[in-house]
Amino acid sequence: MAQTFTITTPIYYVNSVPHVGHALTMLVCDAEAAYHRLRGEEVLFITGTDENGLKVKEAAEKAGEDAHAFVDRISADFRRTWDDLGFQYDDFIRTTEPRHARAVQRLFEILRDKGHIYQDKYEGWYDVSAETFVRESDLVDGKSPDGNEVRWVSEDNWFFRLSALGEPLMAHIEANPDFLLPASRKNEVVSFINQGLRDLCITRTNPGWGIPVPGDEGKVIYVWFDALINYIAATGWPDDPNWQTKWPAVHWMAKEIFTRFHATLWPAMLMAADLPLPSQVIAHGWFTFGKSKMSKSQGNVIAPGELRDFFVTEAGCSADLAVDAVRLCLARCLPYEGDTNFTWDEVAKHYNSDLANDLGNALNRSLTMIHKFAGGRVPGGAVEPEVAEAIAAAKHGVEEAYAAHRVDQAAESAIGLIRFLNKYIDTRAPWALAKAEDPALGSVLRGMALALASAAGLVEPLLPATAPAMRAQLGLSGRPEWAQLGAEETLPAGTEIAQPQPLFPRLDVKKLTAQVEESAPAEPKPKKEPKKPMPEAPAQIEFPDFMKVQLKVARIVEAERMEGSDKMMKLQVTLGGESRQIMAGIAKKYAPVDLIGRQVVVVANLKPARLMGQESQGMLLAADDVDGSPILLEPSDEAPDGSLVH
Ligand code: MSP
Repeated sequence: MAQTFTITTPIYYVNSVPHVGHALTMLVCDAEAAYHRLRGEEVLFITGTDENGLKVKEAAEKAGEDAHAFVDRISADFRRTWDDLGFQYDDFIRTTEPRHARAVQRLFEILRDKGHIYQDKYEGWYDVSAETFVRESDLVDGKSPDGNEVRWVSEDNWFFRLSALGEPLMAHIEANPDFLLPASRKNEVVSFINQGLRDLCITRTNPGWGIPVPGDEGKVIYVWFDALINYIAATGWPDDPNWQTKWPAVHWMAKEIFTRFHATLWPAMLMAADLPLPSQVIAHGWFTFGKSKMSKSQGNVIAPGELRDFFVTEAGCSADLAVDAVRLCLARCLPYEGDTNFTWDEVAKHYNSDLANDLGNALNRSLTMIHKFAGGRVPGGAVEPEVAEAIAAAKHGVEEAYAAHRVDQAAESAIGLIRFLNKYIDTRAPWALAKAEDPALGSVLRGMALALASAAGLVEPLLPATAPAMRAQLGLSGRPEWAQLGAEETLPAGTEIAQPQPLFPRLDVKKLTAQVEESAPAEPKPKKEPKKPMPEAPAQIEFPDFMKVQLKVARIVEAERMEGSDKMMKLQVTLGGESRQIMAGIAKKYAPVDLIGRQVVVVANLKPARLMGQESQGMLLAADDVDGSPILLEPSDEAPDGSLVH
């Protein structure tokens, strides 16, 4: 049986609600799982909920609910949130399930039989909020080092002989340099182990909630010892003889449960039971909100659904592409080493820059030009080496990034190909090739389409709805195999492409800021001046007056209709070395496809103005037709872009 790529998130406590911090770990695992599936591998992506702890029981009591009903409800909330965000987990394990309890009790028995567990009296401090024991010397002002309340416990209990496992653990860490990632966090683990590990009390008096100790039903198994075992329970251990086809796994979590639990206790438990260790244990940093970690107890939680709805209502994305927008923002903000302050500003910035601008422009311009210059079909002609190399480099970058578990870097490499394409279009200027009837035009247009098709494949693990939407616009129905991605044969000459449709409308950041300001007590607004009639031109002007107006030849490189207006068109023009955005009331007369590549005359020193919330940095010259519609002025011969008109 083929070896499965198994990847896990922590199982989440059901005393909380799912927020974007949890969604971050989900995304990292989901993107990695999708990448391996796209490569044709067997994948097992495990997540779930941690339901046995004392704090869960206390949360249920506080909510005045039966503990079983409470955990069912919150666990379902987590599941629903992950389903709404389209996370493709293969198993959702709950620690109240019999398969989990069976695995926990079995492992306990194995360790007891092997002499790794013994009975003793435990007296000391217990932090219920973090479900950990705290040394007297670690207390700060009578609280745990995390600032949580502690309580004194004194009981006969079972202990795990962790102190004996420091050395073999260190040997494993040294022999497997990528076992713990990132390196900075691995160093913390090394110094933690080097300080000397202490035996761990792994049972509690049975409060009527939890997994009973086999043969000592008055006790339950300590929640961390119990929870970690979910990872092998979900592979089928101990009953399924094939469980090892799904093990070892890659474990992801945030930093707070890395050193003591996932990087030390868990491998030690497995080692003691003579079971194989996880292949890799990786921790990311936190999403913070303001100064503190985003968490329910801090009351600073952004719900993942809230973020998705934001892209639907504020940007106008479809529901499935809004989910991709959330995924992109999570990946772009991923705190691999440090922490990230997760703000709405950051979210809007990444969305606009990667999706609305880079991806939107590349798609819109490429498709528009294939319609205009090649009759809407992918032309023949070999893709230029520059494009083939950029595709190969981006693919390599994405592969390396996933191999190193860097979803953030995979996003960078894939979006990098799209940015390359935008530059390639600017420099190869298909409109100029068309005008000059240059035979390179076909190769350039085909290269543009192939770069887009390849970028669709490379973003797919991260943006699973965007990739097929891009392919549909390119007229491609199936997805190429990963190995084939970027090959010219995947985009046959003659493929009929669709009309470009914007996938990610731009977020109007100024409008959003204004909305935030509006919710604050507003300054009285100055009254709007009535619209002034157009000034009449005087019968004569002096030559110096004319010279105040700087007219230049510009080339339209992008054109897009403005939603909500049948008249306005947003244009990007180049004046030689300089790019400008110009809003022009020409959409009734001209289609974007008629404009891209065309030369026009603009007033280059007109003071910028805002039209439909967009900055307009100049004005196009046009004559009035008999019905008042515009007729654009165009040099009769090709002029250098940016040349002066006088
Ligand atoms: N139940 C334990 C885990 C047991 S695993 C055997 C637990 N649960 S938790 O609900 O507190 O989830 C913690 C995990 O949620 C973090 O390790 C991380 O994966 C994710 N995150 C929760 N808040 C987060 C942030 N603010 N930022 C980043 N990750 C966050 O601990």
